[in-house]
Amino acid sequence: MALVLYLFLGLLLSSSCEAYKALVVFGMPSNSHFNLGKGIVRNLLKDGNEVTFITPVEWKNPPPNLRQIDVSNNFNVMPSYLLNIKHLMEAPTPTGHRKSVKTRLINLAKTTMEYENVQRLLNDTNEHFDVVIVEHMYSDLGAGYAAIFDCPLIWLSPVEVHSLSIGLVDVLPNPAYTSDVLSPYTPPFTFLERLEELWIRIYDTFYDYMVYEPMEAAEYERLIVPQIEKRGRQAPPYSEVRNNVSLVLGNSHVSTGVSLALPQNYKPIGGYHIDEEIKPLPENLEKIMMNSKNGVIYFSMGSNLKGKDWPEQIKRDLLKLFGELKQTVIWKFEEELANTLLEKAQSRAH
Ligand SMILES: *[C@@H]1O[C@H](CO)[C@@H](O)[C@H](O)[C@H]1NC(C)=O
Ligand SMILES: *[C@@H]1O[C@H](CO)[C@@H](O)[C@H](O)[C@H]1NC(C)=O
Repeated sequence: MALVLYLFLGLLLSSSCEAYKALVVFGMPSNSHFNLGKGIVRNLLKDGNEVTFITPVEWKNPPPNLRQIDVSNNFNVMPSYLLNIKHLMEAPTPTGHRKSVKTRLINLAKTTMEYENVQRLLNDTNEHFDVVIVEHMYSDLGAGYAAIFDCPLIWLSPVEVHSLSIGLVDVLPNPAYTSDVLSPYTPPFTFLERLEELWIRIYDTFYDYMVYEPMEAAEYERLIVPQIEKRGRQAPPYSEVRNNVSLVLGNSHVSTGVSLALPQNYKPIGGYHIDEEIKPLPENLEKIMMNSKNGVIYFSMGSNLKGKDWPEQIKRDLLKLFGELKQTVIWKFEEELANTLLEKAQSRAH
């Protein structure tokens, strides 16, 4: 009897402890996006799963059960000046800006699939995955990975909830009170802004239908379909593959963003990438923090939008603003502040 119970328990445990094989694809050449990918991978590994991570940034001293596939050439495909804040602010028109961002990111998704080491993975019929998790950066082409391995697709949206990320698993929300991250406006909108949001939505839908979907479908036919057929299945049309999404994980939290009705398969998980093991602060920062009686404000634009690239006027205005606060402000800044800038800000603050 005890033996039967033992066997039964053994079976139960072994099936509930089953490890999954996950393919995680974060092609954006940037440290902050790598951190988001690393957060997903770290949590999967912690639970005993096996992970293959397609990444342009190498995870140094990685945990066991991690296989990395290097796509660091993406740093040459997507040079950093494109994300220069001045460059973005000088973008001609909202729609012109959208077009260039979208085309470049479709190109990045395509290039990521084309590397020889990625091709080797896709081309190997002995490879199996139980789930594919891809960072969504304005291109749906990454859905093709899940189509090859015939497994559920999970998108990770790296930003606040917005209309496009909801649109991955639901109808697009109403443009009268929602925008997307490329939009210049945030709700609540004025009447004219609503009109423009509506126009952008119509423009996007038209362009998606006429330009982007055919562009991606051609790459799907070229890079993905042969691999599906090689595995003895008939390839579904691209329009079905890009809409076959199981779940969207959002790097957002309602406390720091907008509150929108979300579909059941959209889960905001903001903060997930923060390491549980907290390392002590460097001594100089620790000292500043401890000596700040009125608290500290940390201001950072992440690793892409560098503070040093702001136009001079904005740098000066920010300095003036920070100088007027009673809190200590720690600004992640990548150059020495020019004295002239400091003096001007000080004389204006007085
Ligand atoms: C893919 O695999 C086939 C054999 O199954 C081989 O003939 C072909 O050269 C491979 N292609 C690439 C790009 O690795
Ligand atoms: C949709 O994804 C599921 C896995 O989640 C897969 O079994 C199914 O074949 C896919 N359907 C299409 C049309 O791609």
